[in-house]
Amino acid sequence: MSQVLSTINNHVMTISINRVEKKNALTLAMYQDMADALVHANDNESVKVVLIKGEGEAFTAGNDIEYFAQRRDGDTIAEINAFMQALATCTCPVVAEVRGVAVGIGTTLLLHCDLVYSAPNTRFCLPFINLGLVPEYASSYILPRIAGRRKASEWLMLGEAFGADEALQFGILTDIVPADKLTDTVQAVCNKLAAKPVFALQHTKQLMSNEHDAIEKQISAELDVFLEALASDAAKEAFDAFLNKRPVNTKKFK
Ligand code: COA
Repeated sequence: MSQVLSTINNHVMTISINRVEKKNALTLAMYQDMADALVHANDNESVKVVLIKGEGEAFTAGNDIEYFAQRRDGDTIAEINAFMQALATCTCPVVAEVRGVAVGIGTTLLLHCDLVYSAPNTRFCLPFINLGLVPEYASSYILPRIAGRRKASEWLMLGEAFGADEALQFGILTDIVPADKLTDTVQAVCNKLAAKPVFALQHTKQLMSNEHDAIEKQISAELDVFLEALASDAAKEAFDAFLNKRPVNTKKFK
C-alpha cells in the first residue's frame, strides 16, 4: 500500500500520511508524493480545499532519521523542498488534522497550513537543536511572530515536547477537538470551505500571504545552514543514537 494516500471527494483533496509502523516518519519518496498531490490540487479546478492528516495514531514523527543518517555530503533534499514549496504556495486553503505526535517538520509544516485542528493529547516538538540541526522552512521567521520571541526560543533552543494547550495558546492551532470527534469536525470544516466561492476563498488566502518574499528568503537562508548542520558531528551522533536506541554521547561533539 502506498505510504501517501491521496483522494479527492466533494472538492476536498485529502493527503494522508500512511507509514503507521514508523509513526508516519517521512521518506524522500513520501515528500515527493505529497508535493505531486499538492501540485495536482493547484492545477485541478475541482479541488477547492486540501486536508493533510496521518493514518493511525500519529500525525508524523518528522523526517526519516534513517535517511538523514545515510545521506552523503552534497546530496540535496530536493523532494523535501518540493513538498514545502508546494505547501507554502498552495492556492487552496490547507487544513491539517493532527493527533498523536507532530515532530520536526510535522510541526513546521503546520505553520504553512491555514486551519489546524488537534486532538487534546497531541505532543508537538521541534527537536532540531537536539539533533545538531537548525530550524527549517521559515519556522525561525514565523514562530517568533506568532508565538513571541521568548516562546519560540524555548521551543527551538531547548527542543522539548509541548502539548496541544500550549500549541493553541501560542498560535500553532486553530482549535483542540476531542479525539473521537476530530475527523468529523475537520471534515465538516473542509466541506464548509468547499462550499465557499472559490475566487473569494483563494484571494482571501492570498491577501493574508503578504510576507511571502520574506518567508522565501528565510527558507533559503535556513536551508544553507541546515545542510551544513546535517553533516556535523552532533547530527551524526544524534542520528546514530536514535537508530541504535541509545542515549546521545555529548562528548562526541562540541
Ligand atoms: N525516523 C525514522 N524512524 C522513526 C522516526 C523517524 N523520525 N520516528 C519514529 N521512528 C520509528 C522508530 O525507530 C520505531 O521503529 P522500530 O519499531 O523499527 O524500532 C518506530 O518508528 C516507532 O517509534 P517509537 O520510537 O518506538 O515510538 P514512540 O511512541 O515510543 O515514540 C516518537 C514516538 C515520535 C516520540 C519517537 O519515535 C521519536 O522521537 N522519533 C524521532 C522524531 C524526530 O526526532 N523527528 C525529527 C527528525 S528531523
